[in-house]
Amino acid sequence: MSDDPGSAGHWEDVYRERDPDQVSWFQQRPRPSLDLILQAVGDRRAGVIDVGGGASPLAARLVEAGFADVTVLDVSGRALAAARRAAETASGAAAEAVTWVRADLLTWQPTRTWAVWHDRAVFHFLTDPADRATYLAALRQATEPGAIVVLGTFAADGPTHCSGLPVTRWTAEELAAELGDAFVLLDSRRHRHRTPAGSVQPFTWITARRI
Ligand SMILES: C[S@@+](CC[C@H](N)C(=O)[O-])C[C@H]1O[C@@H](n2cnc3c(N)ncnc32)[C@H](O)[C@@H]1O
Repeated sequence: MSDDPGSAGHWEDVYRERDPDQVSWFQQRPRPSLDLILQAVGDRRAGVIDVGGGASPLAARLVEAGFADVTVLDVSGRALAAARRAAETASGAAAEAVTWVRADLLTWQPTRTWAVWHDRAVFHFLTDPADRATYLAALRQATEPGAIVVLGTFAADGPTHCSGLPVTRWTAEELAAELGDAFVLLDSRRHRHRTPAGSVQPFTWITARRI
């Protein structure tokens, strides 16, 4: 892991105050993320990056599915440490297969490219159009034509806030338009996430390919 991502405060506090299975976005099984990645990507040699992956079990499940080049990037070192412990406990292959990167997406300089970019519940925190432009620049820098983007945000009728922060809410058409002409929409769907407290949060999911 790299050392100091600059602005980790809010998220480090979140993961300090609550165990990974107590946060509202917790999932035992990473759905529909895993299904969408497996549907879009046949080649297990494909490099996958989970941006804002937090303590999600997605990396561990990808390794179990045969992926050997998985990167998890998050601004919270605490979340990454929890995910790493769980992944390496679940699978001996995780130590080799997963790279853990502590970085702020908005200042991160990718040093390689990935075939798959996955984001569940990070993009929707970018309420400032300038930050979304920075995110999209990082996405373009970290991928090449042919790359798959799997993106999940709160839906248009989803929550207005998460973790004490305001969020933006999206339809599939709006997300596709935000990605721009360099991406073609392959799939869109709605998913109802049930939080550990029992409430339901509607998500919009899209899969797109960079052209
Ligand atoms: C709602 S959580 C979702 C975590 C994970 N994707 C999941 O589905 O379980 C948002 C995550 O994004 C991370 N995050 C927020 N802003 C970030 C940024 N600018 N750069 C990197 N990570 C960020 C947080 O630390 C947190 O782990």
